[in-house]
Amino acid sequence: MTRQMVMVGFLQAQNCTNLPSSWRHPESRDDSMSADYYQEIGRILESGRFHMAFFDDRLAMPDRYGNDHAHTVEYGIRCVKMDPLVVLTCMGMATERLGLGATASTTYFEPFDVARRFATLDLMSGGRAAWNVVTSLNDGEAQNMGKDAHLEHDYRYDRADEFMEVVLGHWDAWEDGSLIMDKKSGRFADPAKVKRLDHKGEFFKSRGPFTVPRSAQGHPVVIQAGASGRGQRFAGRWGEVIFTAARNVTAAREGYAAVKNEAAKAGRDPDQMFLCNLTTPVCGATKAEAEDKMALINKLPLEIDALSLLAEALNHDFASKPLDEPLTTQELQGMQGILGIRDGVLKTSGKSNPSARDFVTFSGRGQVHDAIVGGPKEVADRLEEMFVERGCDGFVIAATIVPGSYADVVKHVVPELQRRGLFHKDYAGKTLRENLGLKRPAAGAWKTQPRVAAE
Ligand SMILES: Cc1cc2nc3c(=O)[nH]c(=O)nc-3n(C[C@H](O)[C@H](O)[C@H](O)COP(=O)(O)O)c2cc1C
Repeated sequence: MTRQMVMVGFLQAQNCTNLPSSWRHPESRDDSMSADYYQEIGRILESGRFHMAFFDDRLAMPDRYGNDHAHTVEYGIRCVKMDPLVVLTCMGMATERLGLGATASTTYFEPFDVARRFATLDLMSGGRAAWNVVTSLNDGEAQNMGKDAHLEHDYRYDRADEFMEVVLGHWDAWEDGSLIMDKKSGRFADPAKVKRLDHKGEFFKSRGPFTVPRSAQGHPVVIQAGASGRGQRFAGRWGEVIFTAARNVTAAREGYAAVKNEAAKAGRDPDQMFLCNLTTPVCGATKAEAEDKMALINKLPLEIDALSLLAEALNHDFASKPLDEPLTTQELQGMQGILGIRDGVLKTSGKSNPSARDFVTFSGRGQVHDAIVGGPKEVADRLEEMFVERGCDGFVIAATIVPGSYADVVKHVVPELQRRGLFHKDYAGKTLRENLGLKRPAAGAWKTQPRVAAE
């Protein structure tokens, strides 16, 4: 079959989209704390045959800037963060084929709990659930979840490997065909087919037996977004849908090859995983219309949005010195980076000691950067290039206005991609795995991979 794109909506169970200022847009719905808001997005994505709606998560609001939350709530900088699984369940009730993905942290939850919540959603949605495995970001999350400080990066992934073994082990507990449900004999299930896990590892203990039988798709699809070497090794070992954030085709191709290579080293079939690159399309019926939309979007961000998100992402208090004072080398070295923000700023500013203002200017944080602005042709051309050049297998689409951004993609871009044969015209089946083209995993299949992926 011809290779076709995977499309995922990148959603937040919060007061704004990835763009903190999106809530200030005159056309954004202002009831983001209602079920109807998310259900409308779900219906739009499903009408455009998106494979999945995905919710990110963070267990704290950004409050590293000035070590205070006042600016966060005052300006609405991702200050509302609801439980994504509950919101996703509401969305699932208003849709029938759309995959339902949400984030849960291996650093702050117990594997049994995560396994049970996602397995339940998988049953309740007829096999449409997916779990985005993250190791979380910063001290704010640690302090909300009973710890003083966030764990070290690679150590988090070591724990996460074992977390996966526990979750997948529990998801295998009820063999297919274990349910009998014979009212006359009174027998509900075959005890020979329901096993205890009895896991005692370096980081986790969990006994079982697990309390949720397998779903129509076997178990939830595993999403991952590791970008570091250690993260890519983890993604290659476990991920079935993998999110990337490459800014151009060359970088995307490198990341794509690296993750697929890690998968092969872990004994997996690299075609049974789909890399979706983060993309922000701003589109309209024509290029001119899209440019007008972009001009309005560019007026929304405030400087405080960027400072707050930078402080959060880099775990550095940008309020600790005046905006134009250069940061010391020690301060720069103390930053914990995601998405290569610090190194990107050093490179693009050409300064070895940039100031906080340089970080705002050159990081693009809090603003829409790298948007694809255009009519159907321009946006489809860019997506096609990245896809055909094997920079990715699909896209995780971020919004600047909700629900308008998704409505625009569905109206203007999806038909053009379908016309080019790059995107499916309808869902292939009922479960998320069927729609992605992923095989239903046999219980225990993941164990045939080496316990620790090769270096
Ligand atoms: C599209 C996308 C979505 C992500 N969603 C989350 C999230 O919801 N929560 C989170 O803590 N990290 C999230 N991340 C961060 C990744 O899990 C990962 O930590 C990051 O890409 C850096 O890679 P590393 O962990 O290998 O250093 C996301 C990344 C991408 C590209």
